[in-house]
Amino acid sequence: MANNKKLLILAGDGIGPEVMTQVKRVVTWFDKTQGLRFDVSDGLVGGCSIDKHGTPLTDETMNQAKQADAVLLGAVGGPKWDNLPFEIKPERGLLRLRKDMELFANLRPALVFDALAEASSLKTELVKGLDIMIVRELTGGVYFGSPRGIETLPNGERRGINTQVYTTSEIQRVARVAFELARKRNGKLCSVEKANVMESGVLWREEVTKLHADYKDVELSHMYADNCAMQLVRQPKQFDVIVTDNLFGDLLSDCAAMLTGSLGMLPSASLGAADANGKRYALYEPVHGSAPDIAGKDLANPLASLLSLSMMLRYSFDLAKEADLLDTAAKTVVANGFRTGDIMAPGCTKVSTTQMGDEILKTLEKLAT
Ligand code: IPM
Ligand code: MG
Repeated sequence: MANNKKLLILAGDGIGPEVMTQVKRVVTWFDKTQGLRFDVSDGLVGGCSIDKHGTPLTDETMNQAKQADAVLLGAVGGPKWDNLPFEIKPERGLLRLRKDMELFANLRPALVFDALAEASSLKTELVKGLDIMIVRELTGGVYFGSPRGIETLPNGERRGINTQVYTTSEIQRVARVAFELARKRNGKLCSVEKANVMESGVLWREEVTKLHADYKDVELSHMYADNCAMQLVRQPKQFDVIVTDNLFGDLLSDCAAMLTGSLGMLPSASLGAADANGKRYALYEPVHGSAPDIAGKDLANPLASLLSLSMMLRYSFDLAKEADLLDTAAKTVVANGFRTGDIMAPGCTKVSTTQMGDEILKTLEKLAT
C-alpha cells in the first residue's frame, strides 16, 4: 500500500538480533492496535554480512536503506571479525550507511530514569532528573577526512595519518539541528571543540557564533572538549543541548551515557537533511555495541533499541503521541522493578531480553486502554 511506512531492520551482530526481535514485536503491536501501517524488511550489516557476502554492507542493502523511510539498526562487530583488514571490518558497514545517506546529525540523549538514578556511578543528586541531548556531527571530521592511511617513510619508519577537516556548511547544518532542538527543550546550547589548539575548532566556534544571530532566543555557550568531559562528570545538569564534532561526540556521548547508569538504556537517531518533499534519511540505533560476551543468551537489555524505535516514531514520522506512549511504557516497566542484568538492583525482578519485551507489551496494552 502506498501509505505504508517502510522500515528496514538491520539487526547486525552479537546482541543485535535478540534486541531487534523485541523491537519487531513492538512494531507489530503498533501496527495491529494503533493503526500505524509498517512494511518491515530485513537486511544484513556488519559481521553477518561479511560471512554471507564478503562485505559488511552490500550495494543492494545500501539501496534498500535509501529506499526505506527509516532504518533501525541493532549492533555490529565482534571478536570473530576483529582481525580483518580495516576496509572490510563490520564497523565499515555502519560508517558507509552513515556516509552514503549523509546522516550528519547524530542525536544522543542521556536521560536518567528516576528509578535508575541510583545505578549511576555518580552520586544520585548529581544525576537525578538529568536530561541532556548530545548532537554529534557524524559524517565529517577526522573519521572521514583525507589524507588518511598508513605509509612507510624513506627511513623505513611507518606513519599513520588522519585528517580533521570541517567546512562551513558541514558546521552550519549540524549546528542548526542543535539550535532547533535547544529551542524545543530548555533553550540552552553548548558548542564544544578545541579552538585553543585546532584551526577546525576555531572555524567551528566562529560559524556557530555567526549562526546564533538566527536563534537569539537560545542561550549559546562554548566549551573546550576536555573541559566538557570534566564538566559532564562534575556537574552534568548544567547542560541542555551539546553540539560537537564527530570524534569529540563519540567520546563525550559514551561518557554522558554512563551517567545514566547503563549503556543498555540509550537510544540514538542519525538524521540527514530533508529533501524537497520533506523526506529525510534516518537511521536509529542503540548507543551500545554488540556485547559479544552476552550475545545469544537472552540477557541483553532491549530498552535502548526500543527507545530508538520511539525516536523513530518521533523524528521520522512525527508520531509524538505514540513515541510518548513507548517512552512511558519503558519508564513504567523499570519503575515497577523489572530489570535486565545490566540495571539489576536489590529488590528488583531480574528479567531476560524476551521477558523485558513481554513487560513492555503488557504495559503498552494497559496504557493504551
Ligand atoms: C558509535 C561507535 C561507532 C563510532 C563505531 C562502531 C564505528 O563507537 O556509534 O559511537 O565510532 O562512531
Ligand atoms: Mg562510540
